[in-house]
Amino acid sequence: MISEKMILPISESDLLFDQESETSATEDPGGVLTKNNTNRCYAGHPGITYSDIFNCTADFTEKETFHGRQVVYTHKGRSGLGLLCHHWNLQSGDEILMPSYNCGTEIDPFVYHGLKVIFYRVDQQAQLDLEDLQSRVTAKSRMIYVTHYFGWPHDIRYLSNYCKENNLYLLEDCALSIFSNPLDSLIGILGDAAIYSFPKTLPVPDGGALTLASSAPPTVQLIETPHANVILKEMLPLIKRTVLRFSDKVGLYKHLPQRFIRSRARDNGATTTSAGFPEIPQSYYFDKTIEKKSASWITRYILNHSCPTDIVQRRRAHYAQLFEAACNTKIFQPLFYHLPEGVCPLWLPVIVEDREAACYGLNERGIAATQWWAGYHRAFDWSEFPEARYLKDQVLTIPIHQQLSPRDVEYICSAILSVGNGQF
Ligand SMILES: Cc1ncc(COP(=O)(O)O)c(C=O)c1O
Repeated sequence: MISEKMILPISESDLLFDQESETSATEDPGGVLTKNNTNRCYAGHPGITYSDIFNCTADFTEKETFHGRQVVYTHKGRSGLGLLCHHWNLQSGDEILMPSYNCGTEIDPFVYHGLKVIFYRVDQQAQLDLEDLQSRVTAKSRMIYVTHYFGWPHDIRYLSNYCKENNLYLLEDCALSIFSNPLDSLIGILGDAAIYSFPKTLPVPDGGALTLASSAPPTVQLIETPHANVILKEMLPLIKRTVLRFSDKVGLYKHLPQRFIRSRARDNGATTTSAGFPEIPQSYYFDKTIEKKSASWITRYILNHSCPTDIVQRRRAHYAQLFEAACNTKIFQPLFYHLPEGVCPLWLPVIVEDREAACYGLNERGIAATQWWAGYHRAFDWSEFPEARYLKDQVLTIPIHQQLSPRDVEYICSAILSVGNGQF
């Protein structure tokens, strides 16, 4: 049973979407969904679909998504961070404050540019500790960095004033939060700059954005477009996913051998840091050659033809359904118990003790669950931040993206119930 506090407020639009649900994918949705269940669906990441290219109902506008700010389209989210170091003239030895719960890719551009990165406390519910943050500000501090996790906002009104009073830059990381517009909080509006990473939400091969509050033009111009080979390489998995999703639509997917079904886990933990933590993959460290590259034309095209209204509505509806399934398990505990109006959730993040086994169980069923931010940046001593380590070691993300059909969502619900009740 789910308790009262676990019940999510679902908006009217979400309910409308729900009512259109098809019947369950499995004959016995409450029963055990085994790995070799022949009613399985394709529940991998998004691929490029016909409607991503020829979308007649696209309602994306740059002004609305990036709040009327100056936008620089970058090759990756991290390229925007490298650019900011030049734009704000951040010098070697300057201090910046960053959240201890982090991916590592957003840290490394600053490490590369010689800045002193100082972590501040994030608690076990992924909330910022403002007191701890302020206690770490010194005369050398230049910038405070805030990450809005999974589309949920931090209330940064106080921090915004604090930064103005103390002559500090405020940078919002919206890599996980594009299209998230909570009504009672602001994302990507109050910071002096914000960065975005498009492949987290859209089926695109590359791309991010750096947005600036000031009307002064960026001091660094992007002059190079990414090489066609690079984009082609990133396109291949997107095309593969499209083929798999299509094979599911025409009834072939369930006949494919298990090696096509399995959703491959990321390459985390191949090496360990000097403190013995599994290290982030080498590709997460900063590569200076991408700093001045812009987003590819294909990414710009797909972004311009996207439909944020529909994406947000679908993601919220999927989230609500899977959230309820997770609450009905012994082992999955949602990270957030409230889905505020306007939030565009990136995933369903759950805390699970035996994360590896649970992730394996879902991956074996073709579900693209991820051991979220499992690796550690090698340059830091993580001993001071047990809560961030707890999140890095225990958060599992379950897909809720816009390309899942009602049948896929039912299938993931069944898998959550099976794995979540011990049927790894
Ligand atoms: C919170 C956060 N910020 C920034 C980035 C960097 O984005 P990109 O991979 O587009 O460089 C990532 C990447 O995973 C991230 O998780």
